Amino acid sequence: MLTCYDATFARVSEASGVDALLVGDSLGMVLQGHDSTLPVSQADMVYHVACVARGCQRPLIIADMPFGTYQESPELAFRNAAQLMAAGAQMVKIEGGREMATTTAFLTARGIPVCGHIGLTPQSVFQLGGYRVQGRADGDRERLLTDAMTLEEAGASLLVLEAMPAKVADFITEHLRIPTIGIGASAGCSGQVLVLHDMLDIAPGKKPRFVKNFMAGKNSVGAAITAYVEEVRAGTFPGPEQLYPE
Ligand code: KIV
Ligand code: NA
Repeated sequence: MLTCYDATFARVSEASGVDALLVGDSLGMVLQGHDSTLPVSQADMVYHVACVARGCQRPLIIADMPFGTYQESPELAFRNAAQLMAAGAQMVKIEGGREMATTTAFLTARGIPVCGHIGLTPQSVFQLGGYRVQGRADGDRERLLTDAMTLEEAGASLLVLEAMPAKVADFITEHLRIPTIGIGASAGCSGQVLVLHDMLDIAPGKKPRFVKNFMAGKNSVGAAITAYVEEVRAGTFPGPEQLYPE
């Protein structure tokens, strides 16, 4: 899985073998220049989902539900998720653990597949006290596992695990039937996701530890994405340099 925000990158990613495209609310930072994902609107997401959907046929298109469009109630979540589905998404992603179980069950029972997202959940950056690795404190491993199992039980189809030690991600992956998608988690997850602009090393500056520059030594975007797909399938990405120590 890679993030994707427009039709051209959707086409290139599809041709390079990517299975799933996440229209992430990371677009707030990557495309819009904000310093968090909080300002991203429902209209922004609908627009970018439609752009991506026009650019590809085969990859699964997952749309992030932006901050404020799903936390309040399952009904509000359904109304907004339905717009993302109408724009071309085939699944929506919502951040949060057990507190999102009721909403996950509400959406999945009404025809909308749901991807969960636990660990570092960027929409909660101010509650978390910054963008930092999760799952290290006493009891965190069990708390994250309970969140994961509760979301699976509620009907989630996929689960993103962000920024946690590999042992925690492996523990969760082993206990679930649904696939896990890691970012800064473990090569033992069922799949991986990265922010496209990060793995193409487009902008200068410091990147999170889990990012790898796949453009290095490649002469096209397609070749870089193909290298990423091959490393994920081979289980060689992420390597030790990209993982968080316990
Ligand atoms: O918005 C995003 O890009 C994401 C992934 C990095 C998981 O949520
Ligand atoms: Na996101």
